[in-house]
Amino acid sequence: MSERERWATRIGLILAAAGNAVGLGNFLRFPVQAAQNGGGAFMIPYFIAFLLLGIPLMWVEWAIGRYGGKYNHGHLPGMFDVIWRNPIAKYIGVLGIFVSFIIMVYYCYIESWTLAFSIFSITKTYFGLTDFDKMTNFLKSYQGVEKGFFNSILPAYIFLLITLAANFYFLKRGISKGIELIAKVGMPLLIILAIALAIRVITLGTPDPVNFPERNVENGFAFIWNPNFSALADAKIWLAAAGQIFFTLSVGMGTLEAYASYLREKDDIALNGLSTASTNEFVEVVLGGSIAIPVAVAFFGIPATLEIAKGGAFNLGFVSMPLIFQKLPFGEFFGCIWFFLLFIAGITSSVAMVQPLIAFLKEQFKISHNKATFIVFIGTFISTHLVLFFLQYGFLDELDYWAGTFFLVVIGFLEVVIFAWIWGMDKGWEEINKGADIKVPKFFYPVIKYITPLYILSILLYWGITDAIPTLLMKNIPPEQIPYRWGARLFMLTVFAILCFLVYKAWKLNKPRYEE
Ligand code: ALA
Repeated sequence: MSERERWATRIGLILAAAGNAVGLGNFLRFPVQAAQNGGGAFMIPYFIAFLLLGIPLMWVEWAIGRYGGKYNHGHLPGMFDVIWRNPIAKYIGVLGIFVSFIIMVYYCYIESWTLAFSIFSITKTYFGLTDFDKMTNFLKSYQGVEKGFFNSILPAYIFLLITLAANFYFLKRGISKGIELIAKVGMPLLIILAIALAIRVITLGTPDPVNFPERNVENGFAFIWNPNFSALADAKIWLAAAGQIFFTLSVGMGTLEAYASYLREKDDIALNGLSTASTNEFVEVVLGGSIAIPVAVAFFGIPATLEIAKGGAFNLGFVSMPLIFQKLPFGEFFGCIWFFLLFIAGITSSVAMVQPLIAFLKEQFKISHNKATFIVFIGTFISTHLVLFFLQYGFLDELDYWAGTFFLVVIGFLEVVIFAWIWGMDKGWEEINKGADIKVPKFFYPVIKYITPLYILSILLYWGITDAIPTLLMKNIPPEQIPYRWGARLFMLTVFAILCFLVYKAWKLNKPRYEE
């Protein structure tokens, strides 16, 4: 068996895994989810989901990944094939290369906006656009959705190309010289920038004490942190909290398994997995929770912040934040920091998203790393055009709903069932504890075996009863978007079918033999 690439250092691995998890989700998705789902009320189901879904799945994924790596598999089809040894297993595993690729297709486009906006901030391009309508037009005309400040989509296209080039440059350099390098530089920088911004927000006080004394940072924090227990009866909040945990920790994507496959058999996964999850939560809750929402409350008040959050993450990140930067001394500087921080968070996650597919092509078709990376680059580049051109018709939202939300939960479920019930919980537990630098609390044995699968199953059942039919039939979708959203579904089905075919071909060409 050929020598597998490895992480160069432990700190590099932890930073890369944390970089994989810490992403746009921490700074944009989390505040919006918290604000939309009852502020403080959201945090209770959120932490419960972290404990009963996030941490157990994190360990399960690291264990599956490291075990798969032993057989030279850096992708879920191969990993499921090893631990289940059933012909169907590899096709279930296709989901793990499918969702991460689909997420990449839209995620890298959003990532490119953050790079563009960091430059628009430092050059004060949007300064002077001081109301919501004008700033919204700035964003929408940049996206080519309406005419206005920008008259063509060319700037967006150029930033997309730069972003894709940067991603694939690091991917081409490989695990230790590419992904590990960017994480080692990017993650500490991200944390420093986020702390600087959070301090700026905390020290903001009351920006306009005469006219709006209630608009202040204290009320912003109170809004996120004061629990409202009555909201806990609403199942939707539990669902949203679980969805956020999946997305933010990157569980159910197949990417953590891919990273773990570059570990050695005896390397620790228990402490590494826990450190990754804790770093992500620190960045999300402490830093992500201290920036966008408190500052929006301080400048616009709670009712307007709720409206902004209802408009979604882009509204908060790319419209209301630039409005605020225009009111701050050295706002161009803070704006640049905010968007560049998002860019780093984005790129350290997006490089992870295509790694499973690169590993799959390289390992199963025995092609060179450069060739595999190039093929995936071309596939991503072509696919992203669909998101770019059909943005206003909900193409991105449709991909995000299925690949970025629904299928993460499905994969999480399949994974924990295959791990705990098919492979067997005793074997799985032994695998998690092998080489462990901490003693994994026994509490997690029954959690992984019973609670995590049942928790996810109840989420899926609830979805099936309340949301499945209207969502599948696009009941609440504006009519003009419906054909495009069907197009998005067709696109996803096509990608899925191609990947299944490739798996079929790969196993036919090179049937893996697993000697123990
Ligand atoms: N976990 C990554 C994020 O939060 C995907 O953006």
